[in-house]
Amino acid sequence: MDERYQGMTVAVTRPLPAPGTRPLLDAGLRVVANDDDRVLEPASLLALVADADALICTLSDRIDDAVLDAAPRLRVVANVAVGFDNVDVAAARARGVQVTTTPDVLTEATADLTWALVLAASRRLGEGERLMRTGAWPGWAPTQLLGQPVWGARMGIVGLGAIGRAVARRARGFGMHVAYSNRRRLAPELEADLGVVAVDLDELFATSDILSLHAPLSAATHHLVDERRLSLMKPTAVLVNTARGPLVDEAALVRALDEGRLFAAGLDVYEREPVVHPGLLGREDVVLAPHLGSATTAARSAMVGLCVANVLEVLAGRPARTPAPVPRPSPST
Ligand code: GLV
Repeated sequence: MDERYQGMTVAVTRPLPAPGTRPLLDAGLRVVANDDDRVLEPASLLALVADADALICTLSDRIDDAVLDAAPRLRVVANVAVGFDNVDVAAARARGVQVTTTPDVLTEATADLTWALVLAASRRLGEGERLMRTGAWPGWAPTQLLGQPVWGARMGIVGLGAIGRAVARRARGFGMHVAYSNRRRLAPELEADLGVVAVDLDELFATSDILSLHAPLSAATHHLVDERRLSLMKPTAVLVNTARGPLVDEAALVRALDEGRLFAAGLDVYEREPVVHPGLLGREDVVLAPHLGSATTAARSAMVGLCVANVLEVLAGRPARTPAPVPRPSPST
């Protein structure tokens, strides 16, 4: 119990894994939480935040002017995610509301999941799994389910932040040649340490066997993978997205796959979650995961722990541990 927190309320939009809201309650904060494990309707979200000094929300909650206006006491929005495209950071800042994210603690989990998709899409694992489960497997055949090699392939990484780097480190174990494109070029020592080379974004699309997206979503990166860039890719290439769905023009991706201009895709994120483009759902050459990037018990608990710490810091009048970066107008890849 901490007297500084007396009379303060934290709104929480979803049930959370351990430590959950326990540290907030122990500190003497009042918690109002949505106990139903579903995204709140807009009206319910407005009602939940009415008395809130802090808000813990998820990437499925849109925190915009309407929500901020409905929460006149609000001082901090703690997003249970490293991405923060669901929060209007400029609108929050204009009201003196801090926005925090959960960097680093989910890096390795997300890189692992990226590799699950790299391997599954390249080696047609989803298709093979369905063959087994439907009882349709006729037994081994020399021509059956031939995929693309991962060992020794050229990997292209779009966005070499923490997760992109963790993916690059894993690529070494697969004997890959790794190129990247990033908003800012890395220091030469870091490039050498990671074993990566910087190339122009279009060249990355044209030369990669496996292209993995790790850029944040912003106006500059929306539909970064569009008809034109897809047309640069090799017909044997595999596209993997564990960043944000709207980086990819899904309709253009479906067309590229339909026309045999791309070998396969491994997706963890979608343009209009939880809706998946019907053209993707029907395809054998697309591996679809339900936004599992950070979904390990350890990563999710660490994310919640960080959100809670941010709330406690800001409400005590101290700087947040992991504030969202200040929005930049320049392209962010
Ligand atoms: C998950 O997608 C996250 O941004 O943390």
